[in-house]
Formats: sequence, C-alpha cells, structure tokens
Amino acid sequence: MSKGEILDPRVTCDFSTSNHDLCRDAILAFCDSPLYHDNENRYEENFYGRRLRPHVVRHLDFSLPLTTERLASYEALSANRILFAMNEVDFLMLPGEAPWEEAEFQAAYAESHAAAAHVGMPYLERFLFSFLEREIRLSDNWSLPAVEEYFRSYATESRGVSSLPSAEAIRSSCNPATAARDWLVQLAPDFLIESSPMARYASGNYGRLSSSLFKIIIDELGYGDFERKHSTLFENTMRSAELDSVPHRYWQYYLNGSLMLANYYNRITRNRKYFFRYIGAIYLAETGFITSCRIWRDVLKEALPGLDTRYFDEHCHIDIDHSRMAFDGLVRPAIETYGIFAAKEIVRGFEEARWIGEFAEQDFVRQICWKDSAERNQDRYRQIFDKVHRAWETGEITKDCLDEPKGELSITHTHDGDELCHVVSGEMEFLNGFECSTTLRGDQGIFIEHNRLHGALIHSERCNYEIYNIGDLNRWL
Ligand SMILES: [Fe+2]
Ligand SMILES: [Fe+2]
Ligand SMILES: [Fe+2]
Repeated sequence: MSKGEILDPRVTCDFSTSNHDLCRDAILAFCDSPLYHDNENRYEENFYGRRLRPHVVRHLDFSLPLTTERLASYEALSANRILFAMNEVDFLMLPGEAPWEEAEFQAAYAESHAAAAHVGMPYLERFLFSFLEREIRLSDNWSLPAVEEYFRSYATESRGVSSLPSAEAIRSSCNPATAARDWLVQLAPDFLIESSPMARYASGNYGRLSSSLFKIIIDELGYGDFERKHSTLFENTMRSAELDSVPHRYWQYYLNGSLMLANYYNRITRNRKYFFRYIGAIYLAETGFITSCRIWRDVLKEALPGLDTRYFDEHCHIDIDHSRMAFDGLVRPAIETYGIFAAKEIVRGFEEARWIGEFAEQDFVRQICWKDSAERNQDRYRQIFDKVHRAWETGEITKDCLDEPKGELSITHTHDGDELCHVVSGEMEFLNGFECSTTLRGDQGIFIEHNRLHGALIHSERCNYEIYNIGDLNRWL
C-alpha cells in the first residue's frame, strides 16, 4: 500500500464544491431553522432571525454558476441572503439592549449549524461569483510600476468625482428622505459589522504585511474606544435618521446587490487564498471612500437635516491615511515580495470589488425608481388587466390564486419575469420596498416589475388575490 492510499470513505471523499448533493444538503439543513422560517414581521424582531424563505430554497438550483445576465434573479437574491447568514456564524453578535434569548443564541452558534454553513459557503460563492472570471480578464503584464500608475490614476480620477448614481437617485426621488433612509439601510449589512471581515486577517503569521493591515484594523475599531468604533458611529447615524440600529432589523429590505457586495468582502477574507485580492479591494475601498463619503454625507444631510454625519466625516479624513497605508504598507510590499502573482491578484480584487460595488449601486437606483413608480404601476395594471385576463382565459398565460388570512406576510422577494397582481376581495398592503406601500382592495391591482424587491401584508380577515405571470410588460402595452 502506498503512503497516499489512506482514504476509507464511509460517506464521501469529496468535500469540494463539485459534490452537489453534499452542498445542497448542507444548504437546506442550514436554512431549516425557526430563525429563518417565514413569520409575520416586516422588520426582523428576533436578534438572530434572518428570513430566508427556506420553503422556496429546495426548489432552487445553485449547481450551475450564474451568468452575468442572471445576477439579478431570485436565485441570486436567495443565495446572497443564505450566504450572508452563513457568514454570520463566524461573527459574534450579542444583543446589547435588545432582549436576550439564550435558546436562539445557542441555535445561531450550534456546531452543526456552523458545519453546514462552512460546507455551503464555498458552493454558494461558486454559484454567485464565478461570473467574475469571465467578466474580468487580465493581461500578464502587471508589475509594480504598472499597478502603481493604474492605482494613482484611479485615485486622481476618484478625487474628481462630483456625484454618484446612489446620490442622484436620492436627490431626484419623489421622496428624498425615504430614499436617504433606504440608502442607509443598504449600507447597513456592511457598516454595522464594519471591519469584521477585515479583522479575519488579524490572525496568522505573514510578516510585515500583517502589521500594516493591523494598523487599519485598529483605526476601524476606534482603538478600543467603543464610541469611536466605526460601526458605533454608523449606529448613531442610523438612530439620528430614526432607524433602528439593531443589526439586521431591516433584513428584508437589503437588496440583492447590497448583500452581494458584503458577501464578496466576506469571500475574500474568509478564504485566505484570496488575500492578495483583498489587498486590491481594500485599496479600492479606502481610496474610493474618501470621495464617496463626502458625496453621501452631503446628499443625506440635504434629505435628512438632523442626520448625525460623524461616520461620514470620519471617513473623509481617515481614509486619506488608509488609502496611503493600503498602498505603501500592503500593495507595494506584497508585489515586491510575491511578484507577478500578487500584482495580478491585487488588480483582480480591485476590479472585482469595483464591478460589484457598481452593480450594488445600480440595484439601489432601480429600486428607488420602482418605488417611485408605485402610482404609475397601478395605472399600468388598469391599462392591461382586461387583456391579461383574457389571455389567461384562453390558456396563453398562467396565474396563481391565493387566499390568505389577516396578518399573513409574504416575505419580500423578487420575480424573474414581470407579473400582475389583482386583488379579488379583501385588503392587502402591497410592499413596494422599504417604507413604501400601496393599499389594494377588491378589483384593484398593481404591475410588478421583474427583479424588484416587494412583499405583501394582508389586512382584512381574508384576502383573495391573483398573480398573473405576464412575462414582459411590453407585450401588453
Ligand atoms: Fe471605516
Ligand atoms: Fe478606512
Ligand atoms: Fe411577488
């Protein structure tokens, strides 16, 4: 017998993401928890609760990596929600002033739960992030001078940016205050645990690079002063906007793109083989933040005059240091020591993080536009309902009929095609998104745009309603 022949598999010898059955079992086992089952609260009331719509997960297939065109699909949203919740098994969360529930604490951190998460995470990451290999192609010509020139030109360009799509969406929204609060909600999955992914790199033995990164980590953590910790500053910002700062109370309103961005940073910090990509991503974040935080501070303050902006003020100045520290203490020495491999990985991380950051921002822009179209979407319903109904009668399209009791909440979700909601009887609060609702009673309805986050809450004893699968709105106009 050779030295290599040690395997004696009882169940499997394959722990890679190619073992689809193993990974699928792990994902479903992870999701099967009262912490994740549907309930009737539009905001998350359980400190460890994260609604994952697990009854739907078993019908989803995460085995084939997403194409770029499918990044906004429901499968992507579901995978991003599950992946975010799985990453939390590594982060200690304690409720502070929120009620303490020992059983839920035990369930959230049970060994079997964490084991399932660690089998499922690489699989979901393969599903969600493989498209980046195709989307971002790099030449082999990266060297320290080339990276230096490229990053310096990014820094110069970024300093000259005067607005951002997210800021414009807030400013031009028909309800800027709500849009501003919604943006704070979208920043929360990252900012409320700020530096937790980064702090994973506080461990290990990797020379001077570790000390350079640790200097940034301690700044993010406020040098041990709770009041100065960046997540504390952001909690104050949220409270000043009359938002609850308990993480992740607005779970159901996190958009696919916001979760994806947070999951990307989790991926490149949890899996240490992506350390060099993380260096590129952190250079991007620290450099881009100098300007982004100024732009966000100004637009948010315009929309919410009472806002505590110290979180943003802090980043406008400290990230000037962090950007320099990231280049001189991480980018440069990493390439000097580890050569072209490090250079390519650093540029890849920079490009990937930029791509996903822009994707997240666009998701927010579209969601604001969708929420602002609430009245117009009722008009569209009135305009096309008869035609749609006739098409259903002739068997051209399908519909789902629902009869739900008072208090029933359809946890927020998205659809891959356009749909038409028609209330037959009763009263429904159609949830167009964060802090935006449309009341629908008998013979009223609304057009539901594909990929847009929405939900529903029943207010009458019973509500009878129909969802027509109309495919593409344009064919009915
Ligand atoms: Fe920070
Ligand atoms: Fe920073
Ligand atoms: Fe729906």
